[in-house]
Amino acid sequence: LQEIPDILSAEFAADPYPAYRAMREKEPLIWHEATRSYLVSRYEDVERIFKDRQSEFTTDNYDWQLEPVHGRTILQMSGREHAVRRALVAPAFRGGDLREKFMPVIERNSRELIDAFRHSGSADIVTDYATRFPVDVIADMLGLDKADHDRFHGWYTAVIAFLGNLSGDPEVTAAGERTRVEFAEYMLPIIRERREHLGDDLLSTLCAAEVDGVRMSDEDIKAFCSLLLAAGGETTDKAIAGILANLLLHPDQLAAVREDRSLISAAFAETLRYTPPVHMIMRQAATDVTVSGGTIPAGATVTCLIGAANRDEDRYRDPDRFDIFREDLSTTSAFSAAADHLAFALGRHFCVGALLARAEVETGLNQLLDAMPDMRLADGFDPVEQGVFTRGPQSLPVRFTPVAA
Ligand code: HEM
Repeated sequence: LQEIPDILSAEFAADPYPAYRAMREKEPLIWHEATRSYLVSRYEDVERIFKDRQSEFTTDNYDWQLEPVHGRTILQMSGREHAVRRALVAPAFRGGDLREKFMPVIERNSRELIDAFRHSGSADIVTDYATRFPVDVIADMLGLDKADHDRFHGWYTAVIAFLGNLSGDPEVTAAGERTRVEFAEYMLPIIRERREHLGDDLLSTLCAAEVDGVRMSDEDIKAFCSLLLAAGGETTDKAIAGILANLLLHPDQLAAVREDRSLISAAFAETLRYTPPVHMIMRQAATDVTVSGGTIPAGATVTCLIGAANRDEDRYRDPDRFDIFREDLSTTSAFSAAADHLAFALGRHFCVGALLARAEVETGLNQLLDAMPDMRLADGFDPVEQGVFTRGPQSLPVRFTPVAA
């Protein structure tokens, strides 16, 4: 890796894109000792691994990554077990449930957060809005008490710290493991109670769901809710901050979006391509696999570099340019978010919450633009992205004319 900065180095964390380019050009398949995995950076290779038409890859790698903090989730499953579990949960995140039950939840939670700062003339969109909104939405969708949202946030913070604990800090590990226990102590009695009195919320839907005679146990539901904290919280949080940062840094495109809100879906897709919240996803090779002329031996771990694949010049014209008008990225079909960029992965584990995420980001951005018609970055502020496996703006201070209370 002589000319290519190590993916765990400070230089890489500051700006991974030059390293991604060098990998795509010179070493599209390369062994990385520190993560003990093969790094794959080209679009067509990452796409092929995600689609996995020949069943060459498993997600067994997730056992050690996710088990200690979540228990067993659908990300760890494969084959029929995964298909059935996914069919049990997926309908709740699209169609009628999303439109009728959860859109009001999304709108309400976004509005409450914006109302807390719109009279002040300044806010940090990351801390005042983005880190709260998706987790509030999940807690509210599950039908949890508003009074418990702060605890839910505390667990969320501990879980994402655990998953991002690259240096293996023992305190972070211990806090993550404690969260698993506390979360179970909190959720299991609520799940049992909800089974007795089904309501209109997501938890009730999960309790009642049945596919081919299979239902979820209390433990399954608890593990899934725990997964939602990380899968639906941190990702959407970074997508919201990312879309706003990208637009604020490109004022002409922001003006176009303000004028024509239907452009928000294009801005969402382009943000997920250009600055994906999840930069790396791992798989395990089930058999020897040839990728970009090299061999990944059976049993080896593969790190799919979404952040690199989404900037592949063989796939996108001028890939390092943020351009909501680009024609090589689809934004129209229901699953458009999946059609072109790799930010939601593809294939069997394609993000269950893609449409929910899109609804949250579109609603959130619309409300932010309405509430702050002259929102601009705080003077002299240049958004800095942070993170290696997941990545997004660290802070996003904005100024605007306060609305009279
Ligand atoms: C899976 C990204 C929002 C729930 C995934 C995967 C990615 C991803 C890359 C595939 C993981 C893999 O193949 O190993 C994102 C991004 C989001 C987002 C970028 C926001 C912009 C959400 C939301 C939810 C959610 C809002 C739900 C509330 C899930 C679940 C899976 C998943 C449950 C596992 C699916 C399976 O294993 O079959 N997501 N996600 N995600 N996502 Fe998302």
